[in-house]
Amino acid sequence: MITLLSYVCVICHAILLIRADSMADPWPEVQNLLSSIPKSRDPMKEAAMEPNADEFVGFYVPMDYSPRNEERNYQHIWQSEITDFQHHIYDLLLQSSEQFNNSAATYALSQIHLWNQYDFPHNMTLAYEFLEKFNDLTHFTNHSAIFDLAVMYSTGGSGSINGRTAIPQDSARALLYYQRAAELGNLRAKQVLAYKYYSGFNVPRNFNKALVLYRDIAEQLRGSYSRDEWDIVFPTWESYNVRISDFENGLLGKGLNSVPSSTVRKRTTRPDLGSPFIAQLNGAQVTFEPMGRFTFNGNDGHFNDEEDDEDANERRIIRIYYAALNDYKGTYSQSRNCERAKNLLELTYKEFQPQMDSLDPLQGFYYVRCLQLLGHMYFTGEGSSKPNITMAEELLHQSLQRSRRFVGQMGKAYIDLGLISQYIAGNVSEAISYYMKAVETPVNNGIVEFQLSKLATLFPEKEIGDPFNLMETAYLKGFIPAIYEFAVMTESGVNSKNSVENTAYLFKTFVDENEAIMAPELRTAFAELINDRSEVALWAYSRLAEQGYEAAQISAAYLMYQLPYEFEDPPRTTDPRKTLAISYYTRAFKQGNTDAGVVAGDIYFQMENYSKAMALYQGAALKYSKQAVWNLGYMHEHGLGVNKDFHLAKRYYDQVLEHDHRFYLASKLSVLKLHLKSWLAWLTRGKVNYWAPTTSSNVNEDTLPPKTSWYKQLTNILQRMRHKEDATEDSQKHRTVIQNGAAHRDQEEQEISEILGFQVEDLITMGCILGIFLLSILMSTLAARRGWNVRFNGAQLNENGNQQQQQQQQAQGPPGWDFNVQIFAI
Ligand SMILES: *[C@@H]1O[C@H](CO)[C@@H](O)[C@H](O)[C@H]1NC(C)=O
Ligand SMILES: *[C@@H]1O[C@H](CO)[C@@H](O)[C@H](O)[C@H]1NC(C)=O
Ligand SMILES: *[C@@H]1O[C@H](CO)[C@@H](O)[C@H](O)[C@H]1NC(C)=O
Ligand SMILES: *[C@@H]1O[C@H](CO)[C@@H](O)[C@H](O)[C@H]1NC(C)=O
Ligand SMILES: *[C@@H]1O[C@H](CO)[C@@H](O)[C@H](O)[C@H]1NC(C)=O
Ligand SMILES: *[C@@H]1O[C@H](CO)[C@@H](O)[C@H](O)[C@H]1NC(C)=O
Repeated sequence: MITLLSYVCVICHAILLIRADSMADPWPEVQNLLSSIPKSRDPMKEAAMEPNADEFVGFYVPMDYSPRNEERNYQHIWQSEITDFQHHIYDLLLQSSEQFNNSAATYALSQIHLWNQYDFPHNMTLAYEFLEKFNDLTHFTNHSAIFDLAVMYSTGGSGSINGRTAIPQDSARALLYYQRAAELGNLRAKQVLAYKYYSGFNVPRNFNKALVLYRDIAEQLRGSYSRDEWDIVFPTWESYNVRISDFENGLLGKGLNSVPSSTVRKRTTRPDLGSPFIAQLNGAQVTFEPMGRFTFNGNDGHFNDEEDDEDANERRIIRIYYAALNDYKGTYSQSRNCERAKNLLELTYKEFQPQMDSLDPLQGFYYVRCLQLLGHMYFTGEGSSKPNITMAEELLHQSLQRSRRFVGQMGKAYIDLGLISQYIAGNVSEAISYYMKAVETPVNNGIVEFQLSKLATLFPEKEIGDPFNLMETAYLKGFIPAIYEFAVMTESGVNSKNSVENTAYLFKTFVDENEAIMAPELRTAFAELINDRSEVALWAYSRLAEQGYEAAQISAAYLMYQLPYEFEDPPRTTDPRKTLAISYYTRAFKQGNTDAGVVAGDIYFQMENYSKAMALYQGAALKYSKQAVWNLGYMHEHGLGVNKDFHLAKRYYDQVLEHDHRFYLASKLSVLKLHLKSWLAWLTRGKVNYWAPTTSSNVNEDTLPPKTSWYKQLTNILQRMRHKEDATEDSQKHRTVIQNGAAHRDQEEQEISEILGFQVEDLITMGCILGIFLLSILMSTLAARRGWNVRFNGAQLNENGNQQQQQQQQAQGPPGWDFNVQIFAI
């Protein structure tokens, strides 16, 4: 019996051995399986397939973060959303990585967890483990993997802490890895290093090193463009270099931001037909200056669907133009669709060509714009396989003939015709005359000066102008090749304006602008936001923040920590995240985003780190942030981080008024409040600094823990009520609709409380002080009438009220009696 059993065992063992031997690495099989399913979802491409879908696209920005929730979510996805097929793939991948040490499978596993690929859930710690293993297996020779790991060490995995491994934040190691990746030729790692040297973040500031690195990248980028691309039609891409806070009301709230919004590619809508512009157009004897402004920024209002038929027919050409324009340019939530734009325009061209002369001025105007756009597309070859120059010229000339009345609007046609003359027909003088007509039009993005500068160098006898100055103008207008050319000119000292810092800045600008090559993750991040995967978006934005993109720094910080509105709890999150958010806001501030400095200051303020807050507000106030100046006033008024100083506070409040007259009421009220307060302070010999029921003069009400007084309790109740509303509405998240930027939160309420800078307690203080003030006046009047001799320590009561200000200084003096008690006794 025993022998039989052992016999069976031996056989089984043998079979197992054979199985193991014959089992091959499943990686090739996995590759096959993976190629059969989509890697990721692209909501912008999807939207481009259906007309007008993007008006309803939006994204959520979660307020709170808790590692436990993330883990629960992760488990939940594995249990209820992952299909058997996915399970199968995942098991094979694990097998390949664990049993065969297959590096490709290990890499795939890391990327799957980083980017939510194939709908597997995001898990930073797993990605980290697989990346470590991959780099071990490949002996640190794969620069993209090293770069990923460097970002993780630099950010500590965006502060994700959880069960198995906490990713250590280790800047020294991150720096080493960035250097290694850069040596292996990783452009982004070079960009990170260049930015570090440029900004002095983690390394000593060194503009020379920054310049060498940025120029090196810039030269590589320059080399990646063909001659035609560089000189004639520079490739366009759909920029996602935006701050996600700008889809709401910016960082500080409507009317309070000093930094202009970064969203420039929202859906373009037709101007309101009642607008003065259109009225002028119908009057038809005008030049069209404001056009560029509202056609390229306008995002208010949509096509009105209630038009009656006749009207609708009349306006069809206008609709067509804007539909084609949106398809051609693409918006944040909808990719470009040049084929559709071109088809639409071609149909329009054919249909309206015969009745061209009978169109009314308004329709004629839009018809000409259609021709212009179609001509441009023929010229660049967008929407078809190759350019068709003959056709382009034909259309552009037609559009010019039809448009003698709206010359100011024909910039694009002049530019295209200029390029055709210069590069295809080789007629330089004709090209110059076209460029001269386009130079002042709003569509000139600097390309005209760029071309003129080159012509001026080639043909000095034509007296076009100074090439250096022309190139500088082109750079200032943001034309990308011009940034590079201008940087090269500056560096070679063409105009002896050369400084290393300045040149480094120019090359940095050029490198950063090459978003399609250096930062395609900006687009990925945005897509993941729409897909409701904010953690993946955060990973993408963190990488870009390391690379030095100011907008990405804001977006990453905003995903981790948004300022709560009045009466809201601060976001619940982990300390490393909060620290990282502050760090990103501060870095963006150093790159010129003043509002970010105020936000960083506000976070420190909430943490009761008043000295840090003060420093940041002062920095931002130097850059003319009115919110920062206001906050400085508040800090001085309440003695936070500084000594209490009502005079200085008043100066700050007045300064806000100088900056912006919309704050008249708020500023005046605050100053009034200050007067009342200083009066009270004088009356009470500084014993009651504020109306809080505390008697110790150095414990300030503001620094006491909350819930010490009934009005704090009141605000807490209000707060809880608000949270209930929020929770029922959409559970601590709010949806941002991309096109019109409407947020769910009650803007009005926020605006009022933020602009006034008042809190409930302030109002109560004022009420009380006012009451006392009136009472004392009443008292003294009564006293005078009835002939009472009311004297307190030699001072007549009714004088006090009038001379409060002058006497304030004297009031610091000693006399020992306590007026406070008596006032309240009355
Ligand atoms: C990541 O995966 C590990 C292992 O499956 C799990 O323990 C951990 O909770 C996950 N982390 C998150 C944040 O989901
Ligand atoms: C895989 O690599 C690790 C580390 O190099 C090694 O310890 C392990 O034995 C290897 N496993 C196999 C199955 O080769
Ligand atoms: C890194 O390794 C992965 C997986 O083998 C590969 O797909 C990728 O191209 C490699 N990257 C570089 C820069 O070699
Ligand atoms: C340009 O387009 C026109 C009209 O579509 C067509 O007739 C012509 O053959 C095209 N020319 C070239 C070179 O493709
Ligand atoms: C260039 O264009 C101008 C104006 O269209 C024309 O008069 C001139 O003859 C052209 N020159 C050449 C060399 O084709
Ligand atoms: C304020 O923050 C800075 C930087 O994080 C820190 O060094 C300092 O100790 C903090 N001060 C207080 C009073 O918490």
